[in-house]
Amino acid sequence: MTKSKPIAVVILAAGKGTRMKSKKPKVMHELLGLPMINWLLNTVEQLDPERVVVVVGKGMNDLIDTIKPHKYVIQNKQQGTGDALKAALPALKGFSGDVLVLLGDTPLIGVSTLRNLISTRNIDAVTGISVLGVKMQNPTGYGRLIMGRNNILKAIREEKDASAQEKQENIVNTGAFCLDSRRIERWLSNLNNKNAQGEYYITDIPELAALDKIKTRVVIASDVNEVMGCNTRIDLSKLEQAAQNKMREHFMMNGVIMQDPSSVYFHHDTQIGEGTLIEPNVYFSAGVKVGKNTHIKAFCHIDNTVIGDKTTIGPFARLRPGSEIGDDVRIGNFVEIKKSKIGDRSKISHLGYVGDCIMDSDVNFSCGAITVNYDGFQKHQTIIGKGVMVGSNVNLVAPVILDDGAFVAAGSTITTDVPADALSVERGRAEVRAGWAALYRKRKEKAKNNNKDKKKES
Ligand code: UD1
Ligand code: CA
Repeated sequence: MTKSKPIAVVILAAGKGTRMKSKKPKVMHELLGLPMINWLLNTVEQLDPERVVVVVGKGMNDLIDTIKPHKYVIQNKQQGTGDALKAALPALKGFSGDVLVLLGDTPLIGVSTLRNLISTRNIDAVTGISVLGVKMQNPTGYGRLIMGRNNILKAIREEKDASAQEKQENIVNTGAFCLDSRRIERWLSNLNNKNAQGEYYITDIPELAALDKIKTRVVIASDVNEVMGCNTRIDLSKLEQAAQNKMREHFMMNGVIMQDPSSVYFHHDTQIGEGTLIEPNVYFSAGVKVGKNTHIKAFCHIDNTVIGDKTTIGPFARLRPGSEIGDDVRIGNFVEIKKSKIGDRSKISHLGYVGDCIMDSDVNFSCGAITVNYDGFQKHQTIIGKGVMVGSNVNLVAPVILDDGAFVAAGSTITTDVPADALSVERGRAEVRAGWAALYRKRKEKAKNNNKDKKKES
């Protein structure tokens, strides 16, 4: 087996992203909660590159923190993609091999597409460059690939510099290049900015290379969703949809069942076990892990929560950060759980709030019961033992402990601990007055009739 050439990756990310109308650098905008730049870094790490360099703009400190431990270089003035690559040259010193140049605002590119691009650049000795293109129904805004003979690329024409005829071309530049490291410096020093935008374009390199008899080949990406760029918030929402779809497909391929995947939203770190059914309109925030054969009913919002196997959640449940739900649990409609541990087989079937609570297994937490965890200044904990029965409409005023097997009568407001197997009831005794209601109605009817008679007389 021949050893593959070393790879250096340069990601261009210095652009201000003016069209995003945002203070954040463009590549810091998130898809499924993960900055665009991290999507790219995660992908290129799979290529085992010798070095990775991100070109950033001045003062982009959050971006520099985000890309750690990878290296960065600063492009002082944004004078175009060619100028950005030039800024990376010092970081490429001493490197010999393939330089993969990627645009930070094209984050969903797949690793097999990149492998394809690298192997095409190495197809023969005269191919010094490979470019990733894609066929686009509506190529507006993208650079067009102008093909010459024998499938060799002649030039890349930016939209603003293209003739009417060149604009007809619907194979566009995705911005991903693989270049022979030995010639990069020469090509970059020959770039000029005599174009509509007055910028140094990386896209002028193929024409310069052709002067040296170096060929540029094109790889066509099979999935347009992989190579969509991001210039505006509208593009960002399209990328989010594409990334969501990728995640939905990943889960379904791993045995997760969804009736309407398009209405289920995941975070990049969501984990779902095989056989779990997710009904429509469910939102997963960061840090959610769901076990196997669990059923998440419609309209649930789940954030930083671990859920076990064979559990039922929802419909309309809200699971807030720091919660841990066991196996065979039932969390029903209009239930909110926050920073609580719910033991196996426990049931909170309807209309309840459980916050800062450690609930053991086999507990029944009836309709309308709540933990009163906040005294206006501090949060307090509720501890509920094994097999406890909490009746309907109970307030458990924390800090409070209900020991194993305790029983709390409906309507009680519990302010003191309940020992194991005891009953705690805290409500007024009912007073029953026989016949009272009948007498009351009679009196009221009589008063009504008297009033009518008076009106007639007057
Ligand atoms: C670029 C390509 C275009 C291609 C499109 C694909 C050029 C000249 N044009 O256009 O052919 O179809 O991407 O999405 O390359 N950047 C810097 N420094 C700069 C300018 C840009 O780092 O001085 C970075 C940006 O942060 C961004 C990327 O390069 O991540 C692309 O820049 P952008 O201005 O968005 O280029 P496009 O106009 O989209
Ligand atoms: Ca762009």
